[in-house]
Amino acid sequence: MTTKRFEGRVAAVTGGARGIGLAVAERLTAEGARVALWDMDEGEGKVVAARLGGAAMRVDVADDASVAAAVAATEATLGPVDILVNNAGITGPNGPVETYPVDAWRRVVDVDLTGVFLCCRAVVPGMRARNRGRIVNVASIAGKEGNPNAAAYSAAKAGVIGLTKALAKELAATEVRVNCITPAAVKTDIFAQMTEQHIGWMLSKIPLGRFGLVDEVAAMICWLASDEASFSTGAVFDVSGGRATY
Ligand SMILES: NC(=O)c1ccc[n+]([C@@H]2O[C@H](COP(=O)([O-])OP(=O)(O)OC[C@H]3O[C@@H](n4cnc5c(N)ncnc54)[C@H](O)[C@@H]3O)[C@@H](O)[C@H]2O)c1
Repeated sequence: MTTKRFEGRVAAVTGGARGIGLAVAERLTAEGARVALWDMDEGEGKVVAARLGGAAMRVDVADDASVAAAVAATEATLGPVDILVNNAGITGPNGPVETYPVDAWRRVVDVDLTGVFLCCRAVVPGMRARNRGRIVNVASIAGKEGNPNAAAYSAAKAGVIGLTKALAKELAATEVRVNCITPAAVKTDIFAQMTEQHIGWMLSKIPLGRFGLVDEVAAMICWLASDEASFSTGAVFDVSGGRATY
């Protein structure tokens, strides 16, 4: 079933060139949105944007000037951002805290947590002024439970959950809603960053006994990006095949 929940809306999807972000961009477009892909991979972003009829910008979400330029370019080409999906993320390498490379820790936190902060910071003034908007942050079950050998990722994603709750309350007097989702493992290109052992461990934790599908995650994100999600803000939504128990 295809509805048109996003007719007249402009959406920015970070990391929209592939994986979960691509599935979100496709669904938002199918339901009427004009979508800007904010991705480090400009080449793939442009291919996707040409197919979807949207726009692509080369953005490093960890860089505030890059994010500011993306907001300006999106406004100029598509219009003000009504929907922000903070999806760009990296896992960093797997390994214990005691030997974890400091540079890798910093980059994971910069991209996965500071990147969400920077994108929110850049679009919230416009959403507040127009008194409408939806922000959906892609955290992870790792941020709720803490995955061993993925401390940087777990810490950054836990930070995304805290940021989501704080920002939602700051905007609670407006019509802007801010929520996050906590997926368990979904087979995408991100698996290339992890060890086979870690991927097997993640699968073993999922009661449904399989990886999630990008479309299953996109469905939840798109509901949270829609007007239907009007009485949820600062909330954490699981899409974890039964892994999450609270
Ligand atoms: N796949 C999973 O198992 C899983 C589970 C839980 C949460 N997540 C989260 O879902 C989100 C999407 O993951 P995915 O599996 O689709 O990953 P992916 O690797 O398939 O795609 C990520 C995209 O983000 C882009 N990107 C990376 N760093 C960027 C940066 N600094 N600025 C802009 N773009 C950047 C990449 O170029 C890529 O196109 C991530 O935040 C990830 O942590 C994924």
